[in-house]
Amino acid sequence: MKHLIDITHLTKAQIEHLIQTALNFKKNNLANFHSDVLQGQVVAKLFFEPSTRTRNSFEIAAYRLGAFVISPDMKESALVKGETFLDTIKTLEAMGVHACVIRHAEDGVIQKLAENTQKMAIINAGDGSNQHPTQALIDLMTIYEHQQNWQHLIVSIIGDVKYSRVARSLIQALTIMGVKHIRVIAPQELLPRELADNVQVFNNLNSGLVDADVVVCLRLQKERMTSSAKLNVDAFSEKFCLTEKKLALAKKSALVLHPGPMNRDIEIASNIADGPQSAILKQVENGIAIRMSVLQWCLI
Ligand code: CP
Repeated sequence: MKHLIDITHLTKAQIEHLIQTALNFKKNNLANFHSDVLQGQVVAKLFFEPSTRTRNSFEIAAYRLGAFVISPDMKESALVKGETFLDTIKTLEAMGVHACVIRHAEDGVIQKLAENTQKMAIINAGDGSNQHPTQALIDLMTIYEHQQNWQHLIVSIIGDVKYSRVARSLIQALTIMGVKHIRVIAPQELLPRELADNVQVFNNLNSGLVDADVVVCLRLQKERMTSSAKLNVDAFSEKFCLTEKKLALAKKSALVLHPGPMNRDIEIASNIADGPQSAILKQVENGIAIRMSVLQWCLI
């Protein structure tokens, strides 16, 4: 049994293994795939924040591997009667649940739960602005399908880097894989206080996009912005929305990613999101294969 809490807990070899397993799953027709490898295992999904991709792809991934999935309604759980979250987790563990997939608004809470379980795997499906390790694996897999040479890649990440667990996890994941050119492009108010030394910062979209191989647009995390730090969305969009004209500055073959959900025509122009360079729906498809790979890795 293993946990997946933070992308930095994985080595390059473990990430390569998880991606390769996902690619092998994908070689089968995933829409009809079924295996009994996790038969008899129970996976609980506990989501305290909204989700379409992560919540449903974990459920489909578990189903494809033969696991039984429960999705307790947290608003109807004993939490509302004052039970602590850790007691809820220990209760599920005592019932024989083998893995808990958790999304929570509070940074670091999922790590604390993992430190207090002995028999049940804990999988982080996104905590606050901190980590989204399976999204980072999806993004790496999608990039790898496009280009295998990590060292020579130029990856430009645009927008709300400050509040984005996706950006944080992806920057760390790219660093583990040996990517030398990681750029973030954002207005000052959407830059985190600290960024690793290997990350180049641009406040101007044009210069940050030149020759990029991969362009990652991020959702504006309005729900995490304090009222005093509310952004002028029109001004942001005017300067940082990825349009056809801006994308032309990147390499002709550049891949466009967005973890979703998108704010169309705010972070990314609709014609780019639906255009030939977009791999956004491929990221969604790869989400099933990566989550199958992660469930198998944690539980076998
Ligand atoms: N990318 C992502 O985590 O999407 P959801 O919020 O829909 O799960």
